[in-house]
Amino acid sequence: MTRGSLVVDHIGELVTNDGRDGDPLGIRRDAALLVEDGQVAWIGSARYAPAADRRIDAGGAAVLPGFVDSHAHLVFAGDRAAELAARMAGEPYTGGGIRTTVGATRAASDDDLRATVGRLRAEMLRQGTTTVEIKSGYGLTVADEARSLRIAAEFTEDTTFLGAHVVPAEYADRPDDYVGMVCGPMLAAAAPYARWIDVFCERGAFDADHARAILACGQAAGLGVRLHANQLGPGPGVRLGVELGAASVDHCTHLTDADVDALAGSETVATLLPGAEFSTRSPYPDARRLLDAGVTVALATDCNPGSSYTSSMPFCVALAVREMRMTPAEAVWAATAGGAAALRRTDVGRLTPGARADLIILDAPSHLHLAYRPGVPLIRQVLHNGVPR
Ligand code: NIG
Ligand code: FE
Repeated sequence: MTRGSLVVDHIGELVTNDGRDGDPLGIRRDAALLVEDGQVAWIGSARYAPAADRRIDAGGAAVLPGFVDSHAHLVFAGDRAAELAARMAGEPYTGGGIRTTVGATRAASDDDLRATVGRLRAEMLRQGTTTVEIKSGYGLTVADEARSLRIAAEFTEDTTFLGAHVVPAEYADRPDDYVGMVCGPMLAAAAPYARWIDVFCERGAFDADHARAILACGQAAGLGVRLHANQLGPGPGVRLGVELGAASVDHCTHLTDADVDALAGSETVATLLPGAEFSTRSPYPDARRLLDAGVTVALATDCNPGSSYTSSMPFCVALAVREMRMTPAEAVWAATAGGAAALRRTDVGRLTPGARADLIILDAPSHLHLAYRPGVPLIRQVLHNGVPR
């Protein structure tokens, strides 16, 4: 028995994600799991559960890997609830409200921004999210992007520089100058705090040439590539992401056959963000088409004050099953192992020996209940790095 060890016992259904064909979730029944030094040390039959310093009786419930939310914009200030009301009355979503949040974010203090990130991070943890990616993108000055990332880095290893979210108002008539600034002083100030670079490649934001230039600068500075692509209409983003070896292209709402083929022949994950379609009342991406083509699919919240102000991965799982033709097993895999793939991480998103002991005990006997009981708080307990939270 190692000091500080913990056994989770009487697990009715253990989702390991160590799956084979036909069972991607690698489900084990009547299982137990041993945690040592913040990692999964052993899994096996409950009958052979080893002794440990502490024991949690799961009481026959389901245990899943903690959710990996690979796309979130948590560093912001202000409120855009009125935009939601306007959309529900028929207004379209254009991304124009991003500039409203930029103004509020620039005016906020470091402490206010930190408090918002902390509140949302805590909200996520309560809903089972143990890994989250956090983007900048509401500062859009050198100083405001750098401080957004500095604050994000207090909460996660997976920080993303999104200086190319939109062209800010003061550069509206000289977008080339803005791109030069993003690639120059802004990237230099942001890179020490960032693991990834992202661009909103969309009509009204950045075109393919600008996006390619910015992503190439980021790669040269040692950052990994991810991309907001094909959210509001068809476009070059997905294929650009594949061309650049992006870890993930995100949204993927409007895809051509060529986009799907490009993704299918690549290592790039398609990250779907159904909270955005819900909150903008837009058609959902066709997850079935991607899965049937062999594309790796992730699910994430896109948590942000404009297009998707949810922090709930269970809500996204339920939407994916109800609206995007994913099976419950596919949706749970996409929200855990899929998110880990989108962040190129092998230490999270699975419950196998050596993985981080990030897990959820559900108030339910099976992962199916995440779709079966939408909107119900089913997360009974979360372990993060092996520590009960
Ligand atoms: O992923 N599409 C670009 N960025 C965010 C929305 C930002 C906003 O509306 O504030 C997104 O949906
Ligand atoms: Fe986003």
